[in-house]
Amino acid sequence: MEKIVVLTGAGISAESGISTFRDANGLWENHDIMEVASPEGWRKNPSLVLDFYNARRRQLKEVKPNAGHTALVQLEEKYDVTIITQNVDNLHERAGSSHILHLHGELNKVRSTGNPSLIYDWHDDLHIGDLCEKGYQLRPHIVWFTEPVPNIVTAASICETADIMIIIGTSMQVYPAAGLLEYAPRLCKIFFIDPLPNLTPSLTTLDNLHVIQEKAGVGVPKVVASLLP
Ligand code: OAD
Repeated sequence: MEKIVVLTGAGISAESGISTFRDANGLWENHDIMEVASPEGWRKNPSLVLDFYNARRRQLKEVKPNAGHTALVQLEEKYDVTIITQNVDNLHERAGSSHILHLHGELNKVRSTGNPSLIYDWHDDLHIGDLCEKGYQLRPHIVWFTEPVPNIVTAASICETADIMIIIGTSMQVYPAAGLLEYAPRLCKIFFIDPLPNLTPSLTTLDNLHVIQEKAGVGVPKVVASLLP
């Protein structure tokens, strides 16, 4: 069975109603990144950080997977598919994809600030005073700026096995995620689906790059149809 590795970013969830980060009116235009998504911000004003992620977690209950997420599920009929996502939403899971690796954490999980291996499912608001079983404050299970990305090593080894890679809705600006492309085998066919693709030098030098300049809801079903008999 051929291996398809899918790398998704905020753009795949845009048509579900979740804002991207760097587009006009994106989350980072309306918030100071370092205040809401960094260890320094957490130390300075944890309530502000909790409010930010509580709002994201509440929004997740209101939105649904779109045609981009659901088209990816069909690929499993014929391929061994792993999705590596930078997104902290659960729309790939809810669409029905089987193998999903979250690089930047998950909104529906929290972890102990005293023992990071204590991770819990969490679907509602998180407050100051919500503690782990050892008595430490819980924090969102999100990779904040300047923090290491624990799943990057696993993600890189998955990319090394790809026959086909599909990159969807990411500005390819955030490392180490954007560097995963370097691990794809030389002959790997690469599709990049994005209405405003950021064609970085590491993309344009690829022989096997196919750019589909469309929104995910249109571009993903097209690519999936081309890969299925
Ligand atoms: P960005 O906001 O940087 O990029 C979103 C990409 O989605 C852009 O290339 C848009 O052109 C594209 N896009 C917009 N609408 C789309 C649509 N309907 N269909 C397909 N693509 C569309 O988001 P990411 O690249 O995911 O990290 O950002 C990477 C990381 O930066 C995020 O995981 C987040 C952020 O800081 C953390 O919070 C840890």
